[in-house]
Amino acid sequence: MQIKDQPGAPLGAIVEDFDHTTASDRDIDALKQTVYTKKIAVLKDQDLTPQAFLALGRRLGRPETYYEPMYRHPDVPEVFVSSNVPENGRRIGVPKTGKFWHADYQFMPDPFGITLIHPQVVPEKNRGTYFIDMGRAHERLPEALRKEIAGTRCRHSVRKYFKIRPHDVYRPLSEIIAEVETKTPPVVRPTTFIHPMTGETVLHLSEGFTVGIEDADGQPLDEELLKRLFDATGQLDDTFEHEGIHLQSFTKGDLLIWDNRSLIHRARHTTTPEPTVSHRVTVHDEHKLYDGMPAA
Ligand SMILES: [Fe+2]
Repeated sequence: MQIKDQPGAPLGAIVEDFDHTTASDRDIDALKQTVYTKKIAVLKDQDLTPQAFLALGRRLGRPETYYEPMYRHPDVPEVFVSSNVPENGRRIGVPKTGKFWHADYQFMPDPFGITLIHPQVVPEKNRGTYFIDMGRAHERLPEALRKEIAGTRCRHSVRKYFKIRPHDVYRPLSEIIAEVETKTPPVVRPTTFIHPMTGETVLHLSEGFTVGIEDADGQPLDEELLKRLFDATGQLDDTFEHEGIHLQSFTKGDLLIWDNRSLIHRARHTTTPEPTVSHRVTVHDEHKLYDGMPAA
């Protein structure tokens, strides 16, 4: 296994000659350290079946199966499928996932530390995923804004981007909204936390899932504060030219592993309906999202 910095980018590492079936425990530790410190590891020349992909995930941690069944791979439920390509006339997975800034499972009580993506069908144009390092983003915040958010907490919910399922057709919208609020009630967490693997302070919010901000006593603060934080971190920049935004490209055979604690990400918008399929496995490592997180 060889690990090199990704050329021409502030984050990311390229990992060559990695085979999860023969990798030693030391290799796995080194790979995980790379994910925490370089934020994204691009494993080259991987061609894994859903079963083998899950086996790789298990070497890094404890897999989390997505809570909504329509996203699950029919043979390997731990594999989440994003796809606009039907198989034998049947829809597999869900199309157009993640076209908004988010960290995976940010709306859940116990988010996992690591996300793995193995693209299966790679579009010709507009390939890649946008990332923002929210540790770096916190460092770059103006001092006054950093002070303003000290002790505050944010409220996260899936409500803005919950996708209507096939069996929701003809159901009243109010009933679906009530079900979403019951099944996945909003969660409240500190606006910043200490990354348990790197010690850095991470700004924990995203335009897709963060729906409110409150003071230490739970009193709601003006939404405009949240807007300023989205703006300062680049999440409102539709040109994607903000200095904090990194476009991670990939080709067929790549497998991306990233730090879901400090990165938020967003699928690239495609104007042409090109076939796109990717598999995702998500895993909990040895720590909760942050140390001292209250039990769910
Ligand atoms: Fe995602």
